[in-house]
Order: sequence, then structure tokens, then C-alpha cells
Amino acid sequence: MLYLIGLGLCNSKDISLRGLEMIKSCDYVYLENYTSKLDCKLSELEELYGKKVVLAEREFVEDGQVILDQSVENNVALLIIGDVFGATTHISLFKEAKFMDINVEIVNNASVLNAVGVVGLELYKYGKVASIPFGYADVKVPCDVLKMNLANGLHSLFLLDLVPKENKYMECKEAVGYLISKGAISADTKVVVCAKLGCKDFVVKYVEAGSVSELNLFPQCLIVPGDLHFVEEEMLELWK
Ligand SMILES: C[S@@+](CC[C@H](N)C(=O)[O-])C[C@H]1O[C@@H](n2cnc3c(N)ncnc32)[C@H](O)[C@@H]1O
Repeated sequence: MLYLIGLGLCNSKDISLRGLEMIKSCDYVYLENYTSKLDCKLSELEELYGKKVVLAEREFVEDGQVILDQSVENNVALLIIGDVFGATTHISLFKEAKFMDINVEIVNNASVLNAVGVVGLELYKYGKVASIPFGYADVKVPCDVLKMNLANGLHSLFLLDLVPKENKYMECKEAVGYLISKGAISADTKVVVCAKLGCKDFVVKYVEAGSVSELNLFPQCLIVPGDLHFVEEEMLELWK
């Protein structure tokens, strides 16, 4: 049996009771350690679950063979920060498990994709989501996505690159620097800076791109608003 369990966005307590019960029944517990960051230590998770939790890096999860083979005869949990399908990568493991006739249970949880709701921009009015990678010198896709979304009056959510095992996370300041350098926005374009959404000390700021400063709180994501309804405008005023 394979359990794919979302842990939510902040700390050990964001797991659902159903997810916790499943982990307690597991022989092997892996924590996917490359698409996001929790605001708690691994030892806090292990204490709550009463289980050893093994950090799983991208190659291990994307290859999937060990997890799938173990799931044939054992209960195995793969824990995913945020929601199970909030990153593009985990659907492949689900698909492979289905092909192998392995039973899979999924426990969803909050994701950055819905936590941005707190900003006050209508979730239904977001266009394509784009990721800004660290090696962005020759990267154009996020700029093209922004152009397309703006042309359709839609809001743009940018997910920012991270390498948790090296404690390396991109700041919104760097992301806006990239978009300005490519001419996708200008220094006076209003953007929404978000950090640690879903946590008690989350940050949302509505500022001109040129005045985005370092927050040193992670993870962060960036929003460039599209056409605004007056209710959305009123909400953004809260974050000035
Ligand atoms: C691959 S995505 C999301 C993965 C996760 N499974 C989920 O459902 O939220 C990871 C990126 O989302 C953004 N992100 C994730 N959690 C966040 C949070 N709590 N606050 C702000 N941005 C966040 C960051 O840009 C981060 O690099």
C-alpha cells in the first residue's frame, strides 16, 4: 500500500488526522525534500508520528523504484509538503503505482496554490503559473507567461526556485530583479510579495517592484496582479 500524504504548509501540526493515522500504520516513511520547506525540524515530525522519517531527494522520488517495490508488500508513506499534487512531479509516482496495481491512498492538504487566496486576488482569475529557476540568465518562459496572463487580464503566480538540502531559497527581490532585467515588468509595477503562507508569521506585501526588499523568510512566492475588481483593489490596500 502506498500513501501519498500532504503535510500542509507550516509545521508538524498541519497534517490531517487521517494522514497521521496512516503514517502510524506504515513500515517506511519518506519525506519529499526538494519542492518546499516546512517551518519545523525533522525530529518534531518523527516525535509526532512515532516513526523514523527518511528524507527523500528528487532522484530517489522521481526514480520511484524503491518506494514502489516496498509498497508491494508493505505500507509506505511519501509525505509531501503542501498538497500531494501541488508540485508537478508526484503524479508520475501515482501513475506508476497504478500501472503496477499497487493500492494508493491520497490525503490532500493545503497548498501554496490555494494559500495565496489570503492576498485577496480571486483564485479563479489566475492564469498560468510559472517557476523562476536560479539559473535564469537565458530563461524567457516566466516572462512569456506573464505577458500572456496580462493580455488576458489574469493574475500571475511565480513559484521561486529552492534547494532545501543546501538551505538555498530564492527571494522575491531576486525574482523581481530578473523580471525587470528582462523588461517583463518595470520598477514601478505593483507586485505582491508573499512569504511563509499558511504560517502564523506569514508576510504579504503589496509594493512597487523596485522597492521589494529582502525578507529572509522562506519559502516565498511572487504575484503580479492582472485586471483588478474593486474588491480585489480594496484587499490589496491592506497589504501596503
Ligand atoms: C513546487 S511549489 C509547491 C509545492 C507544495 N507541494 C505545495 O502544494 O504547496 C514550491 C514553491 O511554492 C512556493 N511556496 C511553497 N510554500 C509556500 C509558502 N508557504 N509561502 C509562500 N510560497 C510558498 C515557493 O515559491 C516554493 O518554491
